[in-house]
Amino acid sequence: MANARLLDAGCGKGRYARVLLEHEASARLTGMDISEKMLEFVGPGICRVSGSLTELPFADGAFDGVYATESLEHAVDIERAVSELCRVLRPGGKLAIIDKNAEQWGRLKTPAWERWFQRKELEKLLARHCRTVRSEPISYWEDVAPDGLFLSWFAEK
Ligand SMILES: C[S@@+](CC[C@H](N)C(=O)[O-])C[C@H]1O[C@@H](n2cnc3c(N)ncnc32)[C@H](O)[C@@H]1O
Repeated sequence: MANARLLDAGCGKGRYARVLLEHEASARLTGMDISEKMLEFVGPGICRVSGSLTELPFADGAFDGVYATESLEHAVDIERAVSELCRVLRPGGKLAIIDKNAEQWGRLKTPAWERWFQRKELEKLLARHCRTVRSEPISYWEDVAPDGLFLSWFAEK
């Protein structure tokens, strides 16, 4: 979709937003993060906004697409953060969340505070706000087939 309004929620240094813009130059991308230090690294052509996943500083339906890669796990109130991601999505808009799979907990050396998600857990939260929801294993490196460590949840509002 040309000129799509896209939100990278918890964008960090904006590595995914940068690649997205390379593939779709017409996209109107916003990178939002709680850390202003991280936002300093976000590249040109991407609007930078400081804010929290649990209180997104955007109007209802402001985006055609929203994605959150390895950021939802850091939101203290997951239910609220999912609700916020869906709120700022327009009806018919698409959402993708990429995070680690709780069934694989123990595979990495992980600090106790880190939060990994059950497939059904996020599917249920998303289904409260979206018409369609699905999830699938996703690769995390070019030459690694999806092996269940990372999952992607897809939803359409
Ligand atoms: C592991 S990094 C992932 C960054 C980026 N999405 C990526 O994949 O490169 C997690 C990011 O979430 C941000 N973050 C943590 N808690 C947040 C919150 N409550 N609201 C917004 N961003 C948050 C951190 O500042 C950090 O940039």
